[in-house]
Amino acid sequence: MELQEALQKRRSVRSYQKQKVEEEKIKKMLEAAILAPSWKNSQVTRYYVVTGEEMLEKVKETLPEFNRKNVQDAPVLIVSAIIRDRSGFERDGTPSNELGNGWGYYDCGMQSMNLLLAAKEQGLDTLVMGIRDAGKIAELLEIPKEQSVVSVIGVGYSQAEPAMPKRKTVADIARFY
Ligand SMILES: Cc1cc2nc3c(=O)[nH]c(=O)nc-3n(C[C@H](O)[C@H](O)[C@H](O)COP(=O)(O)O)c2cc1C
Repeated sequence: MELQEALQKRRSVRSYQKQKVEEEKIKKMLEAAILAPSWKNSQVTRYYVVTGEEMLEKVKETLPEFNRKNVQDAPVLIVSAIIRDRSGFERDGTPSNELGNGWGYYDCGMQSMNLLLAAKEQGLDTLVMGIRDAGKIAELLEIPKEQSVVSVIGVGYSQAEPAMPKRKTVADIARFY
């Protein structure tokens, strides 16, 4: 699949088949995430991949009802997290500029977009969920204290073909000088 096609066809999917996802495909998604750029190559994003039935149910239970429903049959949930105070920070621990940990989250978004596109390329669909209970998820997956949970990403074979929500135009988002 060409990049342009993946960019255009990727949608947030809120209805999945129960069909399992091949481990090899999940690995390819993670390998794509690794290729993303990051602040001084600090690579602070960590992914917690949940495929085991028992843990899947437990993580789904932590989601607010509407998101639980969105991914009720998704066979894979990937929790993204960042190690705080590293990306966007100097060696002595001071923030390099006003964005501080914003750079870690920026890096995480770049990596996660690669992951989403690699999913699409392999016939998979995804849903990024920012509305989640970070504390409950961190406890359940025993995520180290120095990391912050970012998103929960549902992955699977789609059961729907959602239309693209309306997009802004180039004129709306960019100014040329
Ligand atoms: C950071 C982030 C958080 C999001 N959180 C949720 C969420 O909690 N629940 C949900 O259903 N969709 C969520 N979405 C999906 C957006 O609603 C979706 O990307 C947007 O409407 C555009 O649709 P598209 O992804 O199909 O192009 C999130 C997307 C992003 C990037």
